[in-house]
Amino acid sequence: ANLTVVDHPLIQHKLTILRDKNTSTAQFRQVLREVAVILGCEVTKDLTLGKIDIETPLEKISAPYLEGKKLCFVSILRAGNGLLDGLLDLIPSARVGHVGIQRDHETLEAHRYYFKTPDKLDERLVIVVDPMLATGNTAIDAVNELKKAGAIKIKFLCLVAAPEGVEKLSKAHPDVPIITAALDRKLNDVGYILPGLGDAGDRIYG
Ligand code: PRP
Repeated sequence: ANLTVVDHPLIQHKLTILRDKNTSTAQFRQVLREVAVILGCEVTKDLTLGKIDIETPLEKISAPYLEGKKLCFVSILRAGNGLLDGLLDLIPSARVGHVGIQRDHETLEAHRYYFKTPDKLDERLVIVVDPMLATGNTAIDAVNELKKAGAIKIKFLCLVAAPEGVEKLSKAHPDVPIITAALDRKLNDVGYILPGLGDAGDRIYG
């Protein structure tokens, strides 16, 4: 699988705080936002640079500058918004799409109830964000729909991934790199990641 596990010590430290069931909602939100900034550096490290001419106070130079259309984050509601906040701290000019998907608690199928994205997806790097990659059903549905809407270059950014979800997503969409802070052990029989951090949406929003 096209998988990157970002094992920066700050991420690992902050992830421990997020996993701890005694962490408060306020702290969970804050730390998730901080982790998102570091993950955001990793997921954007191959952005292409052009050059612009500027003048420092001392001389003229041709200096690196991002080229092309603004990238687009696509947040999978609800929990994706917890990562989105930190990503927008890092890249305030990014465009943002929203996809509402809810897992059926029994069948674990993904049910989409909302889809809204910026224009010209084909010209942008599209980064789908959701803290959890469990069965992979949600991520696959989101990427299917984004491709229908024109997206070509897509990455999937999460916090905690289960091996089952990584395998399923990379089989369905081998062209989509997966970037995660942790690859956990497995899913339990009701589709929760072990050891995981619980239901991310509930931990962020209650
Ligand atoms: C959770 C999580 C992911 C999805 C992952 O969302 O935030 O979106 O499940 O599961 P999957 O890989 O098995 O599809 P949930 O359905 O609980 O919705 P919520 O964020 O609105 O609470």
